[in-house]
Amino acid sequence: MLPTSFEGRLRLPILVSPMFLVSGPNLVVESCKAGVIGSFPAFNQRTSDGYEQWLKDVRARVGDNGVPWATQYPVHRTNDRLQADFALTIKYQVPILISTIGITREVTDAVHAYGGLVFHDAINVRHAKKALEANVDGIIAVSGGAGGHSGTYNPFAFLGELKPIMGDKTLILAGCMSDGQAVAGAIAAGADLAYVGTRFVNTVESIASEKLKRLVLESDITDVVYTDQVDGIGSSFLRQTLPGDDFREDLAKGGFNISEILEPKRWVDILSAGQGVGAIDDIPTTAELVDRFERGYHRAVARLGAVPLMPRVAAAS
Ligand SMILES: Cc1cc2nc3c(=O)[nH]c(=O)nc-3n(C[C@H](O)[C@H](O)[C@H](O)COP(=O)(O)O)c2cc1C
Repeated sequence: MLPTSFEGRLRLPILVSPMFLVSGPNLVVESCKAGVIGSFPAFNQRTSDGYEQWLKDVRARVGDNGVPWATQYPVHRTNDRLQADFALTIKYQVPILISTIGITREVTDAVHAYGGLVFHDAINVRHAKKALEANVDGIIAVSGGAGGHSGTYNPFAFLGELKPIMGDKTLILAGCMSDGQAVAGAIAAGADLAYVGTRFVNTVESIASEKLKRLVLESDITDVVYTDQVDGIGSSFLRQTLPGDDFREDLAKGGFNISEILEPKRWVDILSAGQGVGAIDDIPTTAELVDRFERGYHRAVARLGAVPLMPRVAAAS
């Protein structure tokens, strides 16, 4: 279920997901102004000081009574910035922390102590269960075809396995939702919130490079390649930006280290998008895009209500 603190604060059940080199304060603030949850990854600033500047900026512009917003980082020992970024998250009372790779009870307790929430990003049921044991407030079920670090499961199957273990926690579905009808589909299938990334790469407020925005316009589902060969974690990349075989040899030499994700070449030259790219053919403002999501969402709800059903056949006596 949705957290009670969200009551009356969201226009649509959407969290605009954190995206490396895509989400900055303007996208977060415009998402929140449009009535959906905005977010950014702490690593979009190269230092913790930079992260603090963005926290101050977003807090000041969204205000305390607005729509909730979120920041994301890996809660993992190889994240060199973990302690500093976590201290800032508490100092600025970030409404939602999105944890990836790991999560601990100490972290969820500290966030709950100031009234915040923790959503954890999971690609399988085992990781989701571990996060629930650490008392997170929600699980982000990252299904097949999602942009960035992605899962491989079909969303219906994944939701089906998660629903029985969620209790009153929030179930968030991620992957390939490029319009309001898809978001309504996620809610109809049992999710409480939709986690939408790739569609928001192509907005006026996104800080994505012109190259990524152009590739998103030009690409379709056949251009999205799923591989763990770029930074050790299965991710969706645009075929046009993948190099030859050298990087596989580099990767084979060392283990995986989160801080290496900061190494620009992997996410600056090798670009990511989810399988939903094929449905994207423009670069609207965030406000216009959320309006469209709303129209599509209501169209889908009306469509479900209008589906003609067979009259119930009286049970044979
Ligand atoms: C270009 C790009 C960069 C991303 N970077 C991050 C990131 O830094 N941190 C993160 O938690 N997720 C990241 N993601 C994943 C999204 O948060 C989200 O799970 C995904 O976009 C949802 O699927 P969709 O893109 O199909 O809508 C990224 C996704 C994209 C497309």
